[in-house]
Amino acid sequence: MSLEERIRRRKAEVGVIGLGYVGLPLAVEFARCGFSVVGFDVSREKVQAINAGTSYIPDVASETVQEHVKCTGLRATEDFAALRNLDAVTICVPTPLRQTKDPDISHIVAAAREVKKHLHRDFLIVLQSTTYPGTTEEVLLPEFEETGFRVGTDFYLAFSPERIDPGNRVYNTRNTPKIIGGVTPACGRLATLLYQQAVDTVIPVSSARCAEMVKQLENTFRAVNIGLVNEIAIMCHKLGLDVWEVIGAAATKPFGFMPFFPGPGLGGHCIPVDPRYLAWKLKALNYNARFIELASEVNTAMPEFVFTKICKALNQAKKPVNGSRILVLGVAYKKDVGDVRESPSLDIMRLLQADGAQVDYYDPHVPTLEVDELHMRSIQYEAERLREYDCVVIVTDHSAFDYDGIAQNAPLIFDSRNALKRNAPNIIKL
Ligand SMILES: NC(=O)c1ccc[n+]([C@@H]2O[C@H](COP(=O)([O-])OP(=O)(O)OC[C@H]3O[C@@H](n4cnc5c(N)ncnc54)[C@H](O)[C@@H]3O)[C@@H](O)[C@H]2O)c1
Repeated sequence: MSLEERIRRRKAEVGVIGLGYVGLPLAVEFARCGFSVVGFDVSREKVQAINAGTSYIPDVASETVQEHVKCTGLRATEDFAALRNLDAVTICVPTPLRQTKDPDISHIVAAAREVKKHLHRDFLIVLQSTTYPGTTEEVLLPEFEETGFRVGTDFYLAFSPERIDPGNRVYNTRNTPKIIGGVTPACGRLATLLYQQAVDTVIPVSSARCAEMVKQLENTFRAVNIGLVNEIAIMCHKLGLDVWEVIGAAATKPFGFMPFFPGPGLGGHCIPVDPRYLAWKLKALNYNARFIELASEVNTAMPEFVFTKICKALNQAKKPVNGSRILVLGVAYKKDVGDVRESPSLDIMRLLQADGAQVDYYDPHVPTLEVDELHMRSIQYEAERLREYDCVVIVTDHSAFDYDGIAQNAPLIFDSRNALKRNAPNIIKL
C-alpha cells in the first residue's frame, strides 16, 4: 500500500516528537481518528505518565489518554528507534530564546538528528514548532538529504504552524484551521492529506517558508497591537483618562477597528518569543524589524509601569512599599491556565520584593511557584483575608476569581486587567 493510501485509510503509523502542550493534544487527535500513534519525549516522567494513562496537560483529560492507551494503542517512548517503523512524524519540540534573545533551535536540531538516523523511504516529516521562515528548508532539509534520500520522491517534508490556545474552551486542535506548506508539491499534498484526517479544516499554502511566515505574521500582529494598546494605556495615564473606557467606546465602531487590551506585560512562550525569531532572521538579511523591536520594548516595560503605579497608590495611602503586604492575584501568564513561563506576575513580584514588600500570591491553577529565586506557595483564598493586605494586585483575570469578594474586602486594589469592571476610589486601574 502506498503512503498516500495508508494515510487515506488511516492505516498509517504516526509519531509525535515532543509531548507537551502542542504534541499531546495532537497525538490524541491522531489516535482518535484511527491512526496508530507513538509519542516521543526526552522526559521520562512524561513518557511514563502517558503509558500509565495520565495526562499532565489540562486540556487533555486523563480518561482520554487512558482510553487511547487501552483501545487504540497510543504509547510513548524515549527510544527514537521506533521512528524506523513509522509512516509519518510531526516535530513539536520547544523553540525558546537564548539569553542573548536569539533563537534557540537546538531542540529542533536534536529531534531532526533522531529522525535522520531512522530516515527511510516513504516517510513524511512535518515540523510544527514555531520558528523563523526558512528553518524547514535550510536546517531540516540538508540534514535529511545527507542520507542520500531525496525530498519529494524518497521522503516528504512540510511545515505546519501550531495555533493551539491552551485553556480555550471553543477552539482546540480539531476545530482550529491548520495551515500546511510542503517543501515540494508532493510533500504539501501528503501532509495536507494526513492532517485532513484529524483536523476539520486544512489550508494548504505554496511552501514551507510561507507556512512559517504565516505563524510569524499571526504572532507579530498580536505582539505589535498589544504593544500599541499598552502605549495608548501609558498615554491615557498621562492624560488622566481611563484607557478601558476609551477602548470600549472605540470598539463600538462596526468596521475598521479591532479592540486589543492593555495588560501588565506579555507572558507565555509565544507572543513575547516568536517575533524575535522573525526579527533575528531579518537581521541576517540586513533588515531591522522595527515594529517588532518597538513593541517588544513597550511590552517589556509594562511590569515596571505597573510597579510604579502600585508604589504611587501606596504612597497616596501614606504607605511605603517597604514592609507593605501585597497579594498578587494570578501568577499564570494568562487566564485559566497554570503556565507561568514568562509571566509578567513574576517580574512584578520581584520588583515589589526588591523594594521590601512582603508579597504573597493566590492562583488556583498554580499551587506552588518554583521559578528562579521565587519559591512560594499559593495562599488559601478567603475573601476576609484580603483585609490583611495593604494592596491586592490583579495580574491575571482567572474565571475562578471571586471578584465581588475582592471588591468588597480589599482596602486597595490595583486592577491591571479591568477585571472588576467597576470604578471606586480604592480601585486603581492600568
Ligand atoms: N503551547 C502553546 O500554546 C503553543 C502555541 C503555538 C505554538 N507553540 C509552539 O509549539 C512548540 C512546542 O511548544 P509546547 O508548548 O508544546 O512546548 P512544551 O515545552 O510544552 O513541550 C515540548 C516537549 O518537547 C520535549 N522535548 C524537548 N526536546 C525534545 C527532543 N529533542 N526530543 C523529544 N522531545 C523533546 C519536552 O520534554 C516537552 O515535553 C514550540 O515551538 C512553541 O512555540 C506552542
